Amino acid sequence: MKSLSNRRVLLGITGGIAAYKSAELTRLLTKAGAEVRVVMTQSATEFITPLTLQALSGNRVHTTLLDTEAEAGMGHIELARWPDLVLIAPTSANFIAKISEGKADDILSTVLLATKAPIAIAPAMNQAMWSNQATQQNLQTLQQRGIAIFGPGSGEQACGDVGLGRMLEPEQILAMSAALFDEGLLAGLRIVITAGPTQEAIDPVRYISNRSSGKMAYALATEAAQAGAQVTLISGPVALATPERVKRIDVISAQEMLEASIACAPACDVFIGVAAVADYRPAQFAEQKIKKSDDTMHLELTKNPDIITAIAALEKRPFTVGFAAETNSIEQHGAEKLARKKLDLLFANDANATLGSDSISATALWSKGSQALGPASKRSVALQMLTLIRTRYDARANHRD
Ligand code: C5P
Repeated sequence: MKSLSNRRVLLGITGGIAAYKSAELTRLLTKAGAEVRVVMTQSATEFITPLTLQALSGNRVHTTLLDTEAEAGMGHIELARWPDLVLIAPTSANFIAKISEGKADDILSTVLLATKAPIAIAPAMNQAMWSNQATQQNLQTLQQRGIAIFGPGSGEQACGDVGLGRMLEPEQILAMSAALFDEGLLAGLRIVITAGPTQEAIDPVRYISNRSSGKMAYALATEAAQAGAQVTLISGPVALATPERVKRIDVISAQEMLEASIACAPACDVFIGVAAVADYRPAQFAEQKIKKSDDTMHLELTKNPDIITAIAALEKRPFTVGFAAETNSIEQHGAEKLARKKLDLLFANDANATLGSDSISATALWSKGSQALGPASKRSVALQMLTLIRTRYDARANHRD
């Protein structure tokens, strides 16, 4: 997290059960080299004590607007001028409503109104409150003002509900905060992404293929390039435009995709196999168009090479990420593929809901953990996937895995 080194982060905490995660976030920010000052709303202090945050940040915690002693130290206007980033995690539905109206009736909302620093919020609330039109309209207002919105994630909630509204994990918030600074989340990383279906020729006019649209891989390539990575797309036949600043290598068959992948792998840091590679190809390619004759026809198929397994087996292997589109027992099949193909990370998803669609939900699996992503647009889930790739890539590089 080079980009957080020496950055001043004002961490705002509002009232919600996720406030306990702010302690870990403070620790991670400090560890990444940021200087952290914490501002809490009154209700946040019901969930976690200012003393904990003071010990972890090494700075006095601000909780009230009209505290003469605190104002004598660093007043609210000085506090607003101090940071390079204002990060509010967790951000409650009430606080989102308050800042969308531009209110300044406590220390945190006052600092927000007075600051010129970029602002990011990590919402955390019950799924019904999140999907409520009032909250969604308030979020749109904040987005139009240039406020970055981190998450939320989906999953089981403290209240027992399941759905969107969980605060993202501190590690993800840390990576997304770092990405706001110049370097970009993936600055300097060389990423190769395989995309789309492959076509396996039967004769000069016929082939076997599948319904992959390539949208997920292209969304990943678009977001990765925007986040500063050097991206190469090895693409099967799709009807999509090449994203800006992305190098595209077109291939048709699995064999061609394998050759291009092996050629690119030595010069890449991260290899993401999104392509729906045809598992089999015709054993024989008929040089001439096959004629209709009998009522039935037998086509012998032979197994295609497994590209991602070949990449993961290289001596100098890149950080290798796979996908598993399944129709049943999604996580179980995903975990089995993660292990069998020796991948660093795998995104398992429901093939029926994903193929050709613009939205996706997936479960990220790695040797020591898992995380639910989406449901959301493929672009939005792509960013969450890349954030996770960055986090896991760094963890492997630092031998924390
Ligand atoms: O075994 P399955 O096809 O479900 O595995 C999916 C993952 O493996 C994806 O990441 C896909 O891109 C990759 N794959 C591959 N070569 C194959 C088949 C799958 O790289 N022949």
